[in-house]
Amino acid sequence: MITKLVMATNNANKLREAREILSPLGIEVLSQREAGADCDPEENGATFEENADIKAKAVAAQVKLPVIADDSGLCVEALGGRPGVFSARTYPAGEECSGLLNDMRDIPENDRGAYFECDIVFLDGESYAAFSGRCSGSIGFESRGTNGFGYDPVFMVGDRSLAEMSADEKNSISHRGAALRELYRFLEERYGE
Ligand code: IMP
Repeated sequence: MITKLVMATNNANKLREAREILSPLGIEVLSQREAGADCDPEENGATFEENADIKAKAVAAQVKLPVIADDSGLCVEALGGRPGVFSARTYPAGEECSGLLNDMRDIPENDRGAYFECDIVFLDGESYAAFSGRCSGSIGFESRGTNGFGYDPVFMVGDRSLAEMSADEKNSISHRGAALRELYRFLEERYGE
């Protein structure tokens, strides 16, 4: 088994979620800063996987360890899939929920379906693997809860928002959790005894 890999991010929430899920493998997940990489490539891919690939390659060029990168976002059916790959840039930081609620103020309850997608790319020397996870739900009419990040307070699964769930509960149903569990199985098969 490898003992370390680098996640191409400095986002504390993404790192925490990856560390929680991969910890049983005994792999230490370093942030790109901890690994000594300094880059912020333009995420101009057309898909989540393309953007994850851009981030992974930028960090892999600066470190000698295996690298994972994720790209994720929220796709709202009534908005034609937006904000999608532009989820981090459509609204100012900290105003994602209010911005989205405002854009959806005239959309009725039965047309507020949405999903989160997360694509993870793994790079190790020459080899490449990609994993994908989805979390289906709907956009509420108000922000609820204080856990999580980004659009969690307006993303409803059943009658609760993701921000009202514990980290473990969110991981068990989230897009990133699903993609990370696929990565977990891949790492176990590839490097396990
Ligand atoms: P990126 O993957 O860092 O390019 O950014 C994805 C953006 O999508 C984040 O900045 C959030 O706004 C949103 N997003 C992705 N995953 C989640 C999640 O689990 N909860 C809430 N918002 C998310």
